[in-house]
Amino acid sequence: MLITQVDFMSPFYDECVRLRYDILRAPLKLNFEVEQLEKEYIDYHIACYDLHFNLMGCMVLTPQGVDKIKMRQVAVDEKYQRHGIGKKMTVYAEELSSELGFSIMYCHARKTAVPFYAKMGYKEVGKPFKEVNIPHMKMEKQIKH
Ligand SMILES: CC(C)(COP(=O)(O)OP(=O)(O)OC[C@H]1O[C@@H](n2cnc3c(N)ncnc32)[C@H](O)[C@@H]1OP(=O)(O)O)[C@@H](O)C(=O)NCCC(=O)NCCS
Repeated sequence: MLITQVDFMSPFYDECVRLRYDILRAPLKLNFEVEQLEKEYIDYHIACYDLHFNLMGCMVLTPQGVDKIKMRQVAVDEKYQRHGIGKKMTVYAEELSSELGFSIMYCHARKTAVPFYAKMGYKEVGKPFKEVNIPHMKMEKQIKH
């Protein structure tokens, strides 16, 4: 397994956007707006491949000020879910973010994914809210001490 950063607008990034669409958007009958993707030049894009270079999962990290970074668009291909890929990508993202100088990682977790983030040490913050029409919870973790 290889977990690595990929460049915005590269063919690798395009493949991640397709996976994000399949896993996170299509089931909700939503698409990506061009304006949403245009803003992603500022983000860190992380991809996870198997030994044959098949994309298994990806995520996006968006800096929020000097201390905080948001983990979002976490998607593992259905075939590979519950095989530890989300966990390994999260550990990679936390190490990278810590090296970059961020001290807090947070996410807007879909209700269905809250137990996954809880296992990764994320704590619920505030009350549930709706985003893309489904229930979410803000979850946060200190990644640097
Ligand atoms: C949620 C998701 C990112 C988790 O990635 P994954 O590779 O399937 O998860 P892992 O195999 O690394 O799981 C790590 C641990 O969390 C648990 N877990 C994972 N998803 C879970 C879920 N939905 N509910 C309960 N527990 C879950 C696993 O059982 C595992 O537990 P263990 O360490 O005790 O064995 C992935 O399943 C996914 O892409 N889901 C669909 C899209 C989505 O909901 N994305 C998140 C949006 S906020």
